[in-house]
Amino acid sequence: MKRFPVIRHLSAGLLLMMGMSHAGEDARQLVKLPDMMQQHMLHNMRDHLASINQILSYMADDELDKAADVAETRLGMSSLEAHGASHMARFMPEGMRQAGTRMHKAASRFARTAQEGDALPAYKALAEITAACVSCHAGYRIR
Ligand code: HEC
Repeated sequence: MKRFPVIRHLSAGLLLMMGMSHAGEDARQLVKLPDMMQQHMLHNMRDHLASINQILSYMADDELDKAADVAETRLGMSSLEAHGASHMARFMPEGMRQAGTRMHKAASRFARTAQEGDALPAYKALAEITAACVSCHAGYRIR
């Protein structure tokens, strides 16, 4: 192998890639929360999904104002209090906290964009909210 360092690097890279995509392996970081907080967070999560669904329904009916309202009050920066965010943030690793903040900010950004009344940019902003859901889910679990 000494004379073929490129091959050595290639095979190391290949092994790494195989390791990452190993079927059934869960690479998400486990974040232990007190039991009540875990319930609370999952409850919030189900409301997040219901909100996204509600937003999509309003968008389909061309009711961008209502979509903006749902996003701001249930997902956006205005929802932090209701979600007990500051309470839960203490238990989260930094990366998870940042993913949460990214989601709340994206939701408020969506609300502002939707209020301008143009559907296409609003859809783009909506995808930034769901991208934040996806990225946190890819990295963390609580059970
Ligand atoms: C800061 C991280 C984070 C963000 C952002 C986030 N989630 Fe979650 N979500 C989680 C974690 C962690 C779980 C629990 C995973 C596990 O351990 O089973 C979860 C679980 C869920 C569940 C399952 C609830 C249940 O009762 O089992 C739903 C639905 C969900 N999330 C929807 C969403 C939606 C929709 C968004 C975006 C609008 C979102 N989440 C944003 C971290 C996040």
